[in-house]
Amino acid sequence: TPSEMELRIREIKAQLNDKLFLPAHHYQKDEVVQFADVTGDSLQLAKISAENRDADYIVFCGVHFMAETADMLSHPNQTVILPDLKAGCSMADMADIHQTERAWIELTKLFGNTILPLTYVNSTAEIKAFCGKNGGATVTSSNAKSMVKWAFQQKKRLLFLPDQHLGRNTAFDLGINLQDMAVWDPIQNKLIFEGSDLEEIKVILWKGHCSVHEKFTVEQIAEFRQNHSEFQIIVHPECTHEVVRASDYNGSTHYIIETIKNASPGTKWAVGTEMNLVNRLAAQFTDKEIVSLNPNLCPCLTMNRIDLAHLLWSLENIIEGNPQNIISVDEKTKKYAKIALNRMM
Ligand code: 13P
Ligand code: SF4
Repeated sequence: TPSEMELRIREIKAQLNDKLFLPAHHYQKDEVVQFADVTGDSLQLAKISAENRDADYIVFCGVHFMAETADMLSHPNQTVILPDLKAGCSMADMADIHQTERAWIELTKLFGNTILPLTYVNSTAEIKAFCGKNGGATVTSSNAKSMVKWAFQQKKRLLFLPDQHLGRNTAFDLGINLQDMAVWDPIQNKLIFEGSDLEEIKVILWKGHCSVHEKFTVEQIAEFRQNHSEFQIIVHPECTHEVVRASDYNGSTHYIIETIKNASPGTKWAVGTEMNLVNRLAAQFTDKEIVSLNPNLCPCLTMNRIDLAHLLWSLENIIEGNPQNIISVDEKTKKYAKIALNRMM
């Protein structure tokens, strides 16, 4: 039963004590978050994983790319475990290394040595390594603006992988016109650009997206504006450009949490991000009204794969001396991916 599983997880945590570190992303289920040593957004968790030197085992409650990052930043003696290997990220899956290398050949034919690759951390270790090798870096939603500014100090234009929306929203906020952005379609291996002069292109956006954040729409915002005008709208920049423009505030998971936490009592918020976080904010800040912008709710199904049963299974395996679901990035990939991560950090 759930309560038996909870009891056993508590026992194992007490037994392993400092040998175990259990970070959890803000989008994880409550049943998992209750056992977290730390909760955070992807940037915070990357930094915390890099700092922890005590634990032999890091049981990462998040998705695959986050566990890979934790592995790359952790000490070689530490073992990173993802409780369910199916906890991937549909956005990260939209850019594979072969497509990226193929795209790079075409893009360098078009633009020579004027492009810098930047990848959202929501990407495979191989894509991070590709960026590291080619002078680029990783970004998160918390530092995307400063990283894009940095990229333009290095090169005239950038390739932003794999989330077109975060790339477009960030570049737009930095004053780049939408007409000066093109989209790279990895399936057709083709640049999609509506203007006439390729020289004008400053940002090439990989055609990827988050299936959770793309479900927020301008119609949902219009409905709030019309029928619940006292609500303020706050969304994650993985939402489409139209949704971000129509909202009152946009920013990373950390920004959303801080904005709501610091808002005046009695304020009302419609939030465009993953529903576990929205529900937790609503439960935590009861002096405010906090609802999801999407009436149909929108779980990140892969984040939700980590549950009590998978967590307990991972911990039992550790106790039995037979850890499973170890995330281990090969040395060559790690070397270059760390260059990209360290440029960001
Ligand atoms: P954060 O960087 O805001 O934690 O976002 C990670 C993520 O996967 C959002 O969908
Ligand atoms: Fe990936 Fe979107 Fe889930 Fe974040 S919310 S882990 S980007 S699928």
